[in-house]
Order: sequence, then structure tokens, then C-alpha cells
Amino acid sequence: MKVGITGAEGRIGGFLRAGLGDRHEIHSFTLTEQEFESTVVDISDADAMSGVFTGLDAVIHLAGDPSPSGSWESMLNNNIIGTFNVLEEARRAGVGKVVFASTNHTQHGETMTDSPDELDMSKHVMLRLGDYFNPSSIYGASKATGEIYGRLFARHHGVKFVAMRIGAIGDEDTPLTAAGTPSEDYVRAMFLSRRDLVEAFSLALETEREFTVAYIISNNGRRIFDMRETNETLGFYPVDDAERFFSS
Ligand SMILES: NC(=O)c1ccc[n+]([C@@H]2O[C@H](COP(=O)([O-])OP(=O)(O)OC[C@H]3O[C@@H](n4cnc5c(N)ncnc54)[C@H](O)[C@@H]3O)[C@@H](O)[C@H]2O)c1
Repeated sequence: MKVGITGAEGRIGGFLRAGLGDRHEIHSFTLTEQEFESTVVDISDADAMSGVFTGLDAVIHLAGDPSPSGSWESMLNNNIIGTFNVLEEARRAGVGKVVFASTNHTQHGETMTDSPDELDMSKHVMLRLGDYFNPSSIYGASKATGEIYGRLFARHHGVKFVAMRIGAIGDEDTPLTAAGTPSEDYVRAMFLSRRDLVEAFSLALETEREFTVAYIISNNGRRIFDMRETNETLGFYPVDDAERFFSS
């Protein structure tokens, strides 16, 4: 499959280029020139986006501002307008599917403290995909907006859409970097290992479903997301567990 990756120079972009490159023909899209081959384009510029996805079968859309404390201006341009432009260019180019990097933060209104990466452990919740959006930041709201536009394009414009509500994945493939910090509880619930990430995106490229929302976390013993719907719709059964790192 010919697969475009926006934000290909970013952290997750690097993991997916490495993890999916043997199975798919990867076309990278980046904000600036890179050492690897890429098309340089700012996704917030609709004119510049015109024609860039021609010939692709699917697009993994990672580009955006990933900061839960990012500014409104950045969220508007990079996440909301940028995601709309990606969907619109996918529709125009006849790209069959967009796999979207959404976030766990679309539903954290009742689960976090006032800090963007501290879980309130007194809440004891188990959230489901059917629970309504409950963002804890304009970042979370910007990604929820992307999911809604995705639903529109899937239902009315023939672009299949998979919203990946990604947990927490850092530069190192371990949750132990958060040990002893205020975000430890959050990371123990949200940890996503690299192999689970690659497996999830590989499955998302394969699904024939018109519209899917999925939780993309590892099989964490302390998870606060109910994985059953994602297990069934995507066939995603993550194998790693943050608790194994803390107990070894
Ligand atoms: N890392 C995580 O734990 C996590 C969790 C949930 C969701 N996500 C989402 O996954 C995606 C990738 O995250 P990451 O951790 O790799 O972040 P990252 O910042 O490393 O990568 C994002 C990339 O997007 C590019 N970009 C930003 N604005 C752009 C624009 N206007 N035009 C073109 N490119 C642009 C940046 O240059 C950057 O390389 C983001 O959308 C983020 O919101 C990440």
C-alpha cells in the first residue's frame, strides 16, 4: 500500500517509518527538509496542500501540535485547520483512508488534576469510547474536532477514517522515565510501547470499516480505558504492560 505520513519527522513518525516501511511504500510529509526523502509542506496552508496526496492509498496523519498546554493559535492552525486540509486533500485525491493521531486527552475532563499529565487517582473511572468528549485542554478539544471532521468525511466524502486515541509514547520505550514524577500515575495508565504502536497503526491501515475510534494504549494493568470495543473493531490486542516495567 502507498502510505503517506504527515509529521513524518516527529517522534511517532520516526517509529512508524521504521515499523511500517517493510510492509508499505512510505511517502513522508514534513514541515522542514530532512535527511530522509520527504515532501515539505505546511498542512495549515490549503493551497500548498493541493495535489500532494495524489496516488496514495492511505494517509497516516500525525502532523500537529502535540502539547496539552499549547496555544489556541497553534491548535487552530496546526491541529484544526491542518487536519481539515489533510481530509480535504485526501478527498480531492481519492485517498481511501486517513488514520488520525487523536489523543487520550479528548476524554480527560473528569480524570485529570489541573495539570495536563497528572491523573486524579481518587476518581477510579473506566472510560469507554461511547462516553462523550470531555476534553481537559484546548489541545484535547482540537483533536475531538479532528475526529468530528473525520466522521463527516467518512460518511459523506468516501474517506475511511480511523481516530487513534493514542496514550503516552516518549523517546524511550519505557514508562520508567516517569517513575517518581507527578505524571507517574498518568503514564502507568497511558503507556504505549513502540511495538504496540506499530501493530495498532498496521491494523488501522487494514480495516475496511468506514469510521472507527480506537484507544491506542498498551495492555496496562492500571488502564482507565475499556479496551473491549477496540479489541473487536480493530483486532488490536496490545501485548505490553507498564506494570511489568515497574515490577521487574
Ligand atoms: N507522543 C504522544 O504520546 C502522543 C499522544 C497522543 C497523541 N499524539 C499525537 O500524535 C502526533 C505525533 O506526535 P509526536 O509525539 O510524534 O509529536 P512531534 O511533535 O514529535 O511530531 C509532530 C510533527 O508534526 C509536525 N508539524 C506540526 N505542525 C505542522 C504543520 N503545520 N505542517 C506540517 N507539519 C507540522 C512537526 O514538525 C512535528 O515533526 C501529534 O498529532 C500528537 O498530537 C502523540
